Amino acid sequence: MTRPLLSVRDIHRSYTTTSGLIRRRVVASTKAVDGVSFDLFPGETVGLVGGSGSGKSTLARIIARLIEPDQGEVWFDGELLTEVSRDRMRLFRRDIQVVFQDPLHSLNPRRTVGESIARPLLNFGMPKRAALAKAESLMELVGLDPSATSRYPHEFSGGQCQRIAIARALAPEPRLLILDEPVSALDVSVQAQILNLLREIQGKLDIAYLFVSHDLGIVRYMCDRTLVMYRGQILESGLSNDIHKLPAHPFTRNFLDTILTMDGDERWLDAAAAIEDVEEERSDGGGCVYQGTCAHRLPHCRDKTPLLKSIDGSRSVACHLYAEETGFRPSDLNAKYEGAIPCKSKS
Ligand SMILES: Nc1ncnc2c1ncn2[C@@H]1O[C@H](COP(=O)(O)OP(=O)(O)OP(=O)(O)O)[C@@H](O)[C@H]1O
Ligand code: SF4
Ligand SMILES: [Mg+2]
Repeated sequence: MTRPLLSVRDIHRSYTTTSGLIRRRVVASTKAVDGVSFDLFPGETVGLVGGSGSGKSTLARIIARLIEPDQGEVWFDGELLTEVSRDRMRLFRRDIQVVFQDPLHSLNPRRTVGESIARPLLNFGMPKRAALAKAESLMELVGLDPSATSRYPHEFSGGQCQRIAIARALAPEPRLLILDEPVSALDVSVQAQILNLLREIQGKLDIAYLFVSHDLGIVRYMCDRTLVMYRGQILESGLSNDIHKLPAHPFTRNFLDTILTMDGDERWLDAAAAIEDVEEERSDGGGCVYQGTCAHRLPHCRDKTPLLKSIDGSRSVACHLYAEETGFRPSDLNAKYEGAIPCKSKS
């Protein structure tokens, strides 16, 4: 069996907010990532989907080693990244690259785009002439005129800047590209071009993608597997098509239903906002993180945290409905479950 390229194990990360000028005291603590584990295989595309504030970017940044977890392990190609030496980590930095949401702000306005693309290669010791020549070939790979390397970011459109950001991320020949909302700042017409470019590049370079998005539709188009995140936890994982056709977790079902009842180009963002409204009702005690909103809530959901468990070959769900003795199936989400506690509905 193929070894995973990336293994994430029980990652936790909280942010604290402090107040007071002389005596700093913690006034709030947010669990941004709360016990996340998953594997990603070479050449695979895994989608990380969830509403705003669900912890997607925090998890992506931990994997890219831009921030440290409070707890947990990140393994890359069989090595524990959280424990490798500095020198070894320099090598891994080539292997894992990130593309961020806002292309213009991620490029240095004072550098030509050729210099921006060549920068990571220079950092890894490549001679300047060779690095600039490679920048030209990367411009071509991402569908831009290679002779435009002497121009500056402001001379390009948003979509072109994202192509340049992708070229820069590809420069060190990474094995994993983390794409954090790579098209959500772009016009809908340009989004499809960038998504197709990413698919084309993957076909040519056999690179793995961790694709972060609000948008279940885009994730279905781009990703082999999907992880659904809510409040720092993965509540459902499985093949993207299966999840889209028949969601198994009440949260995923709600997320999809909200999307399907909305029209227009903004529907995905609206759905994310709607889910965020729902998040305000959540309980901050133990038990299931979705108990405050779930229409199927059972008495023990209040204090017993459901673990992410396989319900069939490829699908895993963190929900007490799927306890072995119940024989519950995803299609049963259509029916009201006997024993469910009615939930306070939003007015
Ligand atoms: N630097 C920070 N300081 C304090 N809290 C933070 C910080 N970064 C993130 N958070 C909080 O952590 C939680 C997760 O944030 P994160 O940015 O990872 O979510 P996200 O799923 O990427 O959201 P979005 O879809 O809006 O980008 C949120 O509640 C957020 O407010
Ligand atoms: S049934 Fe219980 S465990 Fe499942 S999502 Fe609802 S509240 Fe959570
Ligand atoms: Mg984010």
